[in-house]
Amino acid sequence: MRQPIIAANWKMHKLNSEAVAFAESFLPLVQDSDAAEIVLAPPFTALSSLGSALAGSSVQLAAQNVYPEESGAFTAEISPPMLVDLGCRYTLVGHSERRALFGEQDDFIARKALALLEVGIRPIVCVGETLEEREAGRIEDVVGGQLQGSLASIPAGTTSEIVIAYEPVWAIGTGKTATPEMAQEVHGFIRKELSTRFGEGSEEIRIQYGGSVKPENIADLMDQPDIDGALVGGASLDPVSFAKVARLQRS
Ligand code: PGA
Repeated sequence: MRQPIIAANWKMHKLNSEAVAFAESFLPLVQDSDAAEIVLAPPFTALSSLGSALAGSSVQLAAQNVYPEESGAFTAEISPPMLVDLGCRYTLVGHSERRALFGEQDDFIARKALALLEVGIRPIVCVGETLEEREAGRIEDVVGGQLQGSLASIPAGTTSEIVIAYEPVWAIGTGKTATPEMAQEVHGFIRKELSTRFGEGSEEIRIQYGGSVKPENIADLMDQPDIDGALVGGASLDPVSFAKVARLQRS
């Protein structure tokens, strides 16, 4: 049985005071719910303050990115041990905004995923096709290639430690969600690819859907057999709306 996982990706939003205020409103709304494991990924600058605000709760802290070296002359970068130091349990890698705006490629993403596993942080590896690629009938080609490249260095035996987020680029921040059936079709494909790569262990890997997830669609998405959670951008910025998503509440 895979435990559902609902993660907030705050992107470049929230100052320290706003992150702490979010936690103060959010925690009471989810404290009696064990519907899903809940993860918050604030910007780097709010990791420390949010981590303190979450102390004693079961809500996990995540970073949005990492540099795959332990230390060294890498001005402005953040290492895996630095994230451990701040209490991060998860870290996003390969988000489509990193791929599109910052030119991140699969081999770099693979190095990040491995570097995180080596310090005990679980990578959330993001994949997804653009509208153009979907319309050209290239979903499996693109998503399959991203999976293969981004998971290239993941050792067998770590399947319970990795999470995949399938986020069709055309659904991110646009209000256009894939229907549950459309999402399941790709999730089923991802599960099949993971099974070729990892064998039986692939059944443990949680696959999140991302792209305009909100209280109105979370329950229908979660009804699908290979959708194990969600990565939520816009709707995660408001504590009430994100609490509804995290409770997997039908609304
Ligand atoms: P969205 O973002 O929920 O605002 O579409 C999702 C994401 O980019 O992770």
